[in-house]
Amino acid sequence: MGGYFAGMEHELVITRRGPRCGLPVTVAIHSTARGRAAGGCRLKHYPHWRDSVTDTLRLSEAMTAKCAIAGLPLGGGKTVVAMPEQGYAGDRRDVLLDVGDTIALLDGRYATGPDVGTGPDDMAVIAERTPYVFCRPESAGGSGDSSPHTATGVLSALRAVCAHRFGSPALAGRSFAILGLGRVGAHVLRMLAGEGARLIAADVDDSRREVAARHGAAWTTPQQCLSAEVDVLVPAALGGLLTARSVPALRCAAVAGPANNQLDTPATARLLHERGILWAPDIVVGAGGLIHATAVELLHESPAQVAARLDGIGDTLTREFLAPRRTGGDAAHTGS
Ligand code: PHE
Repeated sequence: MGGYFAGMEHELVITRRGPRCGLPVTVAIHSTARGRAAGGCRLKHYPHWRDSVTDTLRLSEAMTAKCAIAGLPLGGGKTVVAMPEQGYAGDRRDVLLDVGDTIALLDGRYATGPDVGTGPDDMAVIAERTPYVFCRPESAGGSGDSSPHTATGVLSALRAVCAHRFGSPALAGRSFAILGLGRVGAHVLRMLAGEGARLIAADVDDSRREVAARHGAAWTTPQQCLSAEVDVLVPAALGGLLTARSVPALRCAAVAGPANNQLDTPATARLLHERGILWAPDIVVGAGGLIHATAVELLHESPAQVAARLDGIGDTLTREFLAPRRTGGDAAHTGS
């Protein structure tokens, strides 16, 4: 890696000003080597719209690895719309139709799904312009909301993490700090509460406090949540939270959550390792939604087969933990 062309692996990137919404829409296809590229559609504000292009490149690359590790016949892609800071004053449908038209330009080389800022109803609107959409509502012929399935995969991952770090997969009595109570985070919180875990939670949106209260979780600020003294920190919001600055402040034994791109750079994996903190790669932990949607909509598997796939997330992680170290952090360190 390193050098002038580092990361220039993408097969195709389109950035256009949405003809209806006027916002920058980017679709990146990192790889179709294993099959059609898949990856969610994110609506998010960035400091500058160019940052949304950079983020799409990174997120789509991660999707290639996510699909491959999950054993799915898919490649990696992603869609990002750079949203205005004050929120979008226009019609949300215009944004989604522009996304649909952009995907339609790609002739089936990429299919989208829900991501940060979008859900099944949005997928139904995108589907007005292109058939390459996962997770439309069940009433519209899709596999519906992927977030409970992502959360099911996270629980499988957390059992594997506890088994590896503490010698038992039991979640009861273990302490978890959940950072982010959006769709997925809220399901993870509820499921962990059902297992008898001890919980702390935080979200930048203070109104999510009520979700925490409902499941007996202590409420704290995102900053305190990040450095809470717990068994496992569960990042369930936006990425980039593990940095050379934040890692020294962590007081958890392990980090495992569904947020995409948790490490600011691959080298940060090494900092975690040096502190003796077990990090479960987000591309494995957060794959449940993608796995469910693909298994149901593309592979037409039975509920039992789908459940076995989600349960396999823990086994994949255990293999990863036991494999000889070959993290991006090491690669970055040796300059290879
Ligand atoms: N946002 C998720 C991801 O990118 C979910 C997803 C589900 C994406 C289904 C595509 C299809 O992994």
